[in-house]
Amino acid sequence: MTSGNLGLALGQTNTDRPKGSVKQGSRYAQNYSLARRRDGSAGMTAGLTFNGINKSFGGAHVLRQVSLDVASGEFLSLLGPSGCGKSTLLRIIAGLERQDAGTVAIGGRRVDDLRPKQRDIAMVFQSYALYPHMSVADNIALPLRMRRLSGMQRLPLVGGLLPGSRTTQAGIAKEVTRTARALGIESLLARKPGQLSGGQRQRVAVGRAMVRNPAIFLMDEPLSNLDAKLRVQMRAEIKELHRRLGVTFIYVTHDQTEAMTMSDRVAVMAEGEILQVDAPQVIYADPANRKVAEFVGSPKINMLPARFGADLTHAAGTTFDVRARELAGTAGTLGIRPEALHLAEAPGTGIFTGRVRLLEHMGSDLFVHLDLPHDGEGGTLIARLLAERAPQIAFGQTLHLGVRTGRILVFAADGRRVQPDPAPAAVLRSYA
Ligand SMILES: Nc1ncnc2c1ncn2[C@@H]1O[C@H](COP(=O)(O)OP(=O)(O)OP(=O)(O)O)[C@@H](O)[C@H]1O
Ligand SMILES: [Mg+2]
Repeated sequence: MTSGNLGLALGQTNTDRPKGSVKQGSRYAQNYSLARRRDGSAGMTAGLTFNGINKSFGGAHVLRQVSLDVASGEFLSLLGPSGCGKSTLLRIIAGLERQDAGTVAIGGRRVDDLRPKQRDIAMVFQSYALYPHMSVADNIALPLRMRRLSGMQRLPLVGGLLPGSRTTQAGIAKEVTRTARALGIESLLARKPGQLSGGQRQRVAVGRAMVRNPAIFLMDEPLSNLDAKLRVQMRAEIKELHRRLGVTFIYVTHDQTEAMTMSDRVAVMAEGEILQVDAPQVIYADPANRKVAEFVGSPKINMLPARFGADLTHAAGTTFDVRARELAGTAGTLGIRPEALHLAEAPGTGIFTGRVRLLEHMGSDLFVHLDLPHDGEGGTLIARLLAERAPQIAFGQTLHLGVRTGRILVFAADGRRVQPDPAPAAVLRSYA
């Protein structure tokens, strides 16, 4: 089987989607917009709003006051550690679970009292949830049969004899074939799910969601059962599918790479709350708090205990030209991304000095783990250096690493991100 390229096979471009609006933060004027559907017809894609969602299971409060606007046609990921409430939120959107408080609106219409199948959404589950005794063709056809055939018409032998049934069945078969072709699984239509690889099953699950022609796709960790190589490939295919269909995607994952590479915006969740919703590059470079900064980025951001003075900040046994008036006299944290560190010639102010504990060669990059001296309160610093610029580093040697002041992130004791004050004019002049 060829994997196919979803985009090329689908063959439709979506020119009507208001692309510009998707990129511009969280305020969207339109909740419904025209989008050219897979079959070329003009269909609707819906925006989604949830407001003040709360949910408890027994004594456990798993969603707390969760609110979010998702634009029509947007690809939004819910990213967070295991158990933070991602699937529960998705199931509430789908109508499979009922929230204790709060509202869900699809296309500006409240859907809290609508059943799942009335909500114009399709969900792809982590487990794919395929029927093992049915062929691939029957699995994909199922939503169409449920929608287009009556109970009597669905009966195995008698059904085919009832008026209208043959024509409808033929239409369904045609649609199944076209969807399977788009997904590169046409040659598998007669097989049972048990005779497929994980990636092929995943495509069948996507196909079954596609034939429903939903206004919103919900996907709950659809790639987690796949091996690393296939995950990378399917990531690109799902992204392309979104681009071609032009409908809203809500994608649940605990894998930051998936969220960062596929999404227009990422909502970072922890312990039942949304911590930040922004474009991937903003989440990375401009995190709202410590938890977001620590969840996103690999290797992890370096977090150094710090004491803020009126003019300078003390951390790891040295001083930095960083000040935040509101934090003066308090303790907090400096966050430094591994790639913000660079080799320095000699020890000095704002320079980390330590001993190389571990070297990880990653091809183009070299990860250097540096043990910081105990009198500066110890700890480890991880630097990501370009391998070609750092050929001589050896295990056990003493190394000096510098960081540009502008790349240092400042966090208050409660984890809140704080913008440092600009350098005084005299300091800026000395750099000119
Ligand atoms: N039906 C249920 N009854 C009781 N507790 C539940 C139920 N469903 C979920 N939970 C609990 O709610 C919390 C959130 O679960 P949820 O499945 O939403 O997490 P998640 O973010 O999707 O995690 P994962 O990444 O592991 O899938 C967990 O502590 C879970 O044990
Ligand atoms: Mg889950």
